[in-house]
Amino acid sequence: MNDPAPLVVANLKANKTWDELGAWLDVVGSAAKRFLGTVVVCPSSPFLVATHQKLQSASWLIKLGSQDVSKFEQGAYTGEVAASQIASVCQYAIIGHSERRQHFREDETILAQKVRNAQAASIKPIYCVQTALDLIPEGVEIVAYEPVFAIGTGSPDSPENVLKIAHEIKQKGTFSVLYGGSVSPENIKSFLLKGAVDGVLVGATNSLDPQKFIKILEIAST
Ligand code: PGA
Repeated sequence: MNDPAPLVVANLKANKTWDELGAWLDVVGSAAKRFLGTVVVCPSSPFLVATHQKLQSASWLIKLGSQDVSKFEQGAYTGEVAASQIASVCQYAIIGHSERRQHFREDETILAQKVRNAQAASIKPIYCVQTALDLIPEGVEIVAYEPVFAIGTGSPDSPENVLKIAHEIKQKGTFSVLYGGSVSPENIKSFLLKGAVDGVLVGATNSLDPQKFIKILEIAST
């Protein structure tokens, strides 16, 4: 049996114009009403407020997350988005994604600052790790296991290894554990079976096409 109420997060990364995102929301929004778990969409920061307004006005059961928050609070940091600036619209923030660690050199000190800022703004961090050995900052409740070899490659980790890593992470504290990396309509069930993980993080491979994402929601509900 799947967990009937998994957390399914769509990380759209730096994809979609506002018009394209609006069309995606129109398709996924009504389908999400039939989903028993929690759906979170994480669009690019410029679209957070408009997405929030669209979700509110349509009463869709989709929560909103950002793909990052600044390590700084508000101030003279050109180009940054402080957690407190998006706190009125976002419930979640992805922090520590491997793409940020790799392309923006975010280390554990920086990530711990981001987690602190998110928490101070009452935003729940979805903290990404690549192994069960990675440090998890204090106060994190949701951990996403995302091995780099599985991200965007179409080659996910094996369900057995995901189960093992999720178990190791849960031994370190009271965490909900998500799996991310080439999650698809074809393989999602294998990750959710036997309660191996509490949900999934679906990146660009299978979240950008709303029909594929809806399929993932449908299978996660059965
Ligand atoms: P993917 O990405 O689903 O495209 O593999 C996962 C992620 O980066 O969160």
